[in-house]
Amino acid sequence: MARIVLGVGGGIAAYKAVYLLRVLTAKGHFVTPILTDSATRFVGSTTFSALASEAAKVSLFEDSDSIPHTHLGRAADLICIAPATADLIFKLANGAADDLLTATVMASKAQVVLAPAMHEEMWENFAVQRNIKTLSDAGYFIVPPSSGSLAAGDTGMGRMAEPDVISDFVSCALAEGKKSLLGRKVLVSAGGTQEPIDPVRYIGNRSSGKQGRAFAKVAACFGAEVVLVTSTPAPEFPGVKRVFVSSAEEMSKSMHLEREGADIVIMAAAVSDFRVANVSTSKIKREGRERMTLELVANGDILTSLTSSKSGECIYVGFAAETDSLEENLEKKLRAKGVDIIVGNDVTRPGAGFDSDTNSVTVLTKSGDRLSLELVSKEMVAVKVLAMAHRMLEGF
Ligand SMILES: Cc1cc2nc3c(=O)[nH]c(=O)nc-3n(C[C@H](O)[C@H](O)[C@H](O)COP(=O)(O)O)c2cc1C
Repeated sequence: MARIVLGVGGGIAAYKAVYLLRVLTAKGHFVTPILTDSATRFVGSTTFSALASEAAKVSLFEDSDSIPHTHLGRAADLICIAPATADLIFKLANGAADDLLTATVMASKAQVVLAPAMHEEMWENFAVQRNIKTLSDAGYFIVPPSSGSLAAGDTGMGRMAEPDVISDFVSCALAEGKKSLLGRKVLVSAGGTQEPIDPVRYIGNRSSGKQGRAFAKVAACFGAEVVLVTSTPAPEFPGVKRVFVSSAEEMSKSMHLEREGADIVIMAAAVSDFRVANVSTSKIKREGRERMTLELVANGDILTSLTSSKSGECIYVGFAAETDSLEENLEKKLRAKGVDIIVGNDVTRPGAGFDSDTNSVTVLTKSGDRLSLELVSKEMVAVKVLAMAHRMLEGF
């Protein structure tokens, strides 16, 4: 549990801050909302007070606490500002402290997560962009806005990120405390591949792609440029380029193509070991058949083909889904696949492996480090493994 100050600026997206408050308190955080004067014109402080861990604050001078900004600023583990208006972004980039929210940020050493929201013209204004850069360079986590419907029936860039996405950034900032992967490229594969039998059927597996998607999200929160090669649907996430593939061959092609310039490659996809030798071009009919035999041929091992052709300084992370002798098989795979880190999960355990939101993993590195994580979120697995990969990169 963390102490979070939720700063709310005066924009239409203030209504979404109510849901964000719910998400953050549901995660067990102690949340204190601070509304700017303008924010109270959009959503009443009563709504925030009713849902928060303590009453919402709105004034620097009329609070029961005689010096609220320093108390709130010092106690906070993290300050999340959503929506961040153009005005707030300007004030924070220039050190203003003329209301409770800005004074609290100035009086705090906590990490700040900022979710801008405004019309496209405002977002593209040179002054806003300059101020965003100043804040990003100073270590603020900026949750990029997306393109979509805005106030007054307009559409365009500047729509505040969804509360769940902002909450993901908050979790990452709390876990690591810094944008450690800024300037790095991370390539991730996710999902189970589909091997066609005919135009309507395929051989697949139970991989949901959740662990791979969690890696992509977390890497983006840490500031990396991310490419997610996935065979399962993946919603848009700021900073993540999605490449959709289906078969193992397609995934292999995309992984080799996208590997250019990567600092970390994470192979979280469950790739089919075999494919159908003769894929039928028309739907195979059932009539007249009591049995049917499919001939399968082995697919190439994508991870081994990547590590055996590696050049430059890049960390390779492999996954192993095992049903028995986890540790022993992991040691073997670490060497056989030529990876720097191997993450193993026993997919037979409840709450771990395929389609679950949680995972229990054992992580081994080629330098002999070992880490066990018991029933943690897939995001937390990503945070820990990316932190390990980052330390290895720094050691090059
Ligand atoms: C209806 C309406 C909607 C607004 N929406 C936004 C917005 O989405 N983003 C923004 O930066 N400013 C928006 N503004 C302008 C801000 O409310 C204004 O700049 C205000 O001074 C911001 O105060 P604050 O930063 O202290 O909250 C809006 C104003 C109005 C009247």
